[in-house]
This record gives sequence, C-alpha cells and structure tokens, in this order.
Amino acid sequence: MFRYGRRMRAVQFIEYGPAGVVHVAEVPEPHAGPGEIRIAVRASGISAGEITLRSGRLRDVVPIALPYRTGFDAAGVVDEVGDGVTGVRAGDEVFGAASPARRGANADFTVLTAWAAKPAEWSWEEAGGAAGAVETATRVLDRLGVGAGQTVLIQGAAGGTGSVAVQFAVARGATVIGTASEHNHDFLRSLGAVPTTYGPGLVERVRALAPAGVDAVFDCAGGALPDLIAVAGDPARVVTIADFTAKAHGVHMSHGAPDAEPGGAAGAADPMAWHGLTTAVTLAGEGRLRVPVAAVFPIGEVAAAHELSETRHARGKIVLTT
Ligand SMILES: NC(=O)c1ccc[n+]([C@@H]2O[C@H](COP(=O)([O-])OP(=O)(O)OC[C@H]3O[C@@H](n4cnc5c(N)ncnc54)[C@H](OP(=O)(O)O)[C@@H]3O)[C@@H](O)[C@H]2O)c1
Repeated sequence: MFRYGRRMRAVQFIEYGPAGVVHVAEVPEPHAGPGEIRIAVRASGISAGEITLRSGRLRDVVPIALPYRTGFDAAGVVDEVGDGVTGVRAGDEVFGAASPARRGANADFTVLTAWAAKPAEWSWEEAGGAAGAVETATRVLDRLGVGAGQTVLIQGAAGGTGSVAVQFAVARGATVIGTASEHNHDFLRSLGAVPTTYGPGLVERVRALAPAGVDAVFDCAGGALPDLIAVAGDPARVVTIADFTAKAHGVHMSHGAPDAEPGGAAGAADPMAWHGLTTAVTLAGEGRLRVPVAAVFPIGEVAAAHELSETRHARGKIVLTT
C-alpha cells in the first residue's frame, strides 16, 4: 500500500500574532507510531490555550517551536493502528487527543495517543471537541477530591471546559455552583449547576447560595483568585487552569502537558487524567454528558473560529470540521 509522501491539510501558525496568522497549510500526512492510532478526522476542537500561545502573550512562559500545528482533540475513523495497540481496528469511530507535544489535530489526519470509542449519542462535532475538556475536568476534579455530598464552585462554567466540568462534578454527586453571564444561567441549570454571575460581589453571592461553605473551587477563567480563595477559605482548595498568577496566591495551576508546556511560572505539571475518557463514554451512554458546541466552522475558516474563541464568550466548544 502506498503510504508515504501523501499530503493533507493542517492548521498552523508560523509567527505569533492575531487570528489572521493561523492558516491551513499542505503538509505531509502523519503516521501512527507504536502505541498510537491515526484517524481520518471528522471534527476537531479549537483550544483556548493554543489561542493564547498564538497571540505570543505566553512566549516567555511557554516556549513553542514554529511552525506550530494546532489542535489537541479530535474525532474520526481509525485508518492506521500502531504496533502494540489492541482493542481498536481500522474503521472504528473514536474520539481522543494527540500527543500534547505534537498536537496537529486540526487536520485531515491526526495521530492520537489517547482515545475511546465515540459514543453513539454524540455527533461528530461533540466528539471532536470532547477529549481535552474531559481530561482537564477529570484531572482537576481528581486533584480537588470532588465527590458526593460536596459543594464545588466552577468559575467560567459555560465555556468549553467549564460546561463539561459541571457535568462531571454533578455525576460525582456534588452540588455545583457555576458562574457565567446572566444569559447563560438557564444553560447552566440545564447542565445541573446552580448559576450565579462572576465579578464584584461573587463572595457574597456564593455564601448566600452555599451557607455551609464550599469544599472546592475549580477556576476555568482566571483573574479572580483572591475572591475564589475567600470563597474556598483556603488556597489549597482552589485549582486554576487559567491563571498564571496562581503561584503568588498559593494556588495550584494545573496543566497536563509536561512535554510541550513546561510549568514555568505555572508550576509543575499534573499527570494526564485519560481515565476520564472511559467515564465520559459511560456518562454519555447514560445520557448524563453532552458536549455543548458553541459553533462549527469548516477547517478553511479556522481564523474565524479563533476570533470567536478570543471573545471569551463562546458557550461550549468551538469545533472545526474536515
Ligand atoms: N491548564 C489546562 O490544562 C487547561 C486546559 C483547558 C483550558 N485551559 C484554559 O482554561 C481557560 C478556559 O478554557 P475554555 O476552553 O473553557 O475557554 P472558553 O470556552 O473560551 O471559555 C469561555 C467562557 O469563559 C467565561 N468567562 C469569560 N470571562 C470571564 C470572567 N472574567 N470570569 C469568569 N468567566 C469568564 C465565559 O462566560 P460568559 O460568556 O457566560 O460570560 C465563557 O463561557 C482558558 O484560559 C484555557 O487556556 C487550560
């Protein structure tokens, strides 16, 4: 079979800058190495973290090599199975994530290092944007020890990560208070959270909703750590994925990409929580986990997708189709 030398479309940027620097390039197809699979991508997620990387704002904190191929999570049909991989065959429908170092999921073909069977309940678009949010939600909720009977505050609960984290926390039996703009409060209720707004007065609003206190705070937004610490009563009960000032506040910043994104100001990386993919499949089958999709763009319109993400007001995941 002719395998090598074929080319495909992939999203990349070769310089830092605004959304317009991200574009589709013709590049060689990747191939599955040992322990990996390759998929023909049907849909892939836009990563808010990569948008910050593209802007150059983090260039001193998170060094990256250019050109940078974007995309961390994707869903599609398996067409290559690497040595040592069992339990999956060409033709299977899966969702999962690329290696954090290699990325490249916003493409016609991508190599996955973590995956699970695509739930029949999910569209391709939902599945394409799922894996990163599922892994992040699992990693942070595990670290916070969120479980039945607890109350957790999720800051930035209507976004791509927050909307999945709410459902995972609810599935663990926790009471979830989620922050979002008022027009997203019915959406948060539909996910199982008690909504409130972020911004001035947050501490008082949360105290009114949870007079007995909050056990843990999961910050998906950044910029409000003093308030979030006041809500939790202890910085050790707050974990952020979005605030690079965390260390100065004694708060853990969780990131799970040790090979590509050294901690820098952020601190040490946490182990990737890929067991969350299995939980996601179970919850999806029970009708308890959906992946809210804010917008879908064809791969050629990736710059518009980045622009929408940059507004920081998307409700759920932004997804590219190939
Ligand atoms: N470290 C990690 O492992 C990791 C993993 C994934 C993501 N991240 C980071 O986590 C952050 C969130 O990612 P995401 O994919 O969820 O992003 P996203 O989908 O773009 O988040 C959008 C949401 O943020 C909310 N928001 C905007 N400004 C806010 C504020 N000042 N306070 C509270 N909420 C606010 C918006 O709520 P309203 O529209 O309702 O106002 C919107 O629902 C990004 O910074 C991303 O880089 C880190």
